[in-house]
Parts: sequence; C-alpha cells; structure tokens
Amino acid sequence: MNIFRVKDYQALSKKAAEILLEEVKKNENAFLGLATGSTPEGTYQEMVQAYKDGKVSFASVKTVNLDEYEGLEGTHEQSYRYFMNKHLFSHVDINPEQTFVPSGVAQDIQKELEQYEQRIRSAGGVDIQLLGLGHNGHIGFNEPDKVFSTVTHRVELNQRTLEANQRFFASYDEVPKFAYTQGIGTIMTAKKILLIVSGKDKREILHKALFGEVTPEVPASILQFHPNVVVVADEQALPEIPSRV
Ligand code: GLP
Repeated sequence: MNIFRVKDYQALSKKAAEILLEEVKKNENAFLGLATGSTPEGTYQEMVQAYKDGKVSFASVKTVNLDEYEGLEGTHEQSYRYFMNKHLFSHVDINPEQTFVPSGVAQDIQKELEQYEQRIRSAGGVDIQLLGLGHNGHIGFNEPDKVFSTVTHRVELNQRTLEANQRFFASYDEVPKFAYTQGIGTIMTAKKILLIVSGKDKREILHKALFGEVTPEVPASILQFHPNVVVVADEQALPEIPSRV
C-alpha cells in the first residue's frame, strides 16, 4: 500500500487527478472506475482543467461508476449519473456512450446488474478504481455486513449513510433507501485502486480501514489485501502514518 499524506483538500485533489491522468497518458484506451460523493469533486475539477489546458484527451477512455440510487432517473439532480455529467463528462471530450453508471430505473434490474458486472469482468477489471470512504467504512455502497459482498447488487442503505446523504436532498424522506452498487468482489478486480479521504470526520474510520482488522464490518479494510492500492489522504484525515506501514 502506497500512502500519500498531503496538506489539505486542494493538494489531495491535485495528487489524485495526477494519478488518474497518468493512467490515461500511459494508455489512451484506459478503463477508469469512477466514484461520486463530495470528496472526488476537486479531483474532477483538476481533470477538467488538465483537459482544458490541452494536457490530456479522454476521447478513447471508457469509464464505469461504482453505484447509483434506486429509483432516480439520470436526469434527477441527485442521481450519480447527473453528478458525473455535471462534474466531469460534460466538460471533457469523452464519448458519453463509453461512460457507464448503473441504471437506477432499469425495467429488468437483475439483467442490468448482471450486464454491469459482466462489462467490468470481461475487461479483466478496470485499470484504476477511484474510491471515497463512507463514515461507516463503506466503499461504493457496500455497507458494513457479516460477509463481504461479491458482485454488483442491490443494497439497503443503513442509517448512517442515509443521514450523511440527507444533505443533498430536501428532506430525509426523499433520500432513496436502496441503491445498486458494484460488490466488494467487483471492486477488488481493479488492477489499481486509488482511495481518497479528506477531513477530520473520516480520521477514525480511515485508521480502522488501513491499519485495523480486515473485516466486513469495515468494508474498506479489504483494501489491505489488494496488491496495488494508493491512498491519498489529507492531514486532517491522516494525522500520522503508523510506523509498521
Ligand atoms: C456515498 C457514495 C460513496 C462515497 C461516500 C462518501 O455514499 N456511494 O461512493 O465514497 O458517499 O462520500 P463523501 O466523499 O461525500 O464523504
């Protein structure tokens, strides 16, 4: 595990964008795994800037996102499809047909989830998967559980997640209670994983995820078993790196 501890959110965004863009510069057909939430917003801003400055092209890049809320159309302002268009896709030269976010409203959900999983598996996993970290240790929408999830599936969101995501909706009742997410098994097929974490409120859970016991009760702890993980965290989230790392 390669850990970069940076000063603040701005430095985190720059570093994360640099790591993602390295993949695209190395391989113009890169398959990127993307994430939503507040943490990656700055990273996407940096990527858009790099594109505008003529430093990179996304014309042949393919992307796949981690998750989507059940019941939200891509045109809904809080859907993850809308988020991705708003923060990244509509500002760069990517082919929209090569950007995949699970549908929150597919007629045949089982078929949609199987196809989604297949798209990732048949490519042998994404080249790099960007991940944020939920306050309860979730990655994608894989909530704490008794076992690690395997493939792309439907999940019931837990109380902590609903409360955290309430800030984006007019009221708690409007927060979707279910979502579709890549499984932990899917995420682990990524050739490289980039975990970005910012802020004091993530300090305790980040420490557990990186240095604690590997347990499905802290889904992100599974990353300790992945052979190619890069963590970029700011000083607020990671005040120190224990010496055994
Ligand atoms: C959501 C997303 C996760 C994200 C998490 C943390 O629940 N499904 O992919 O990592 O929120 O979000 P934030 O970065 O806003 O703290």
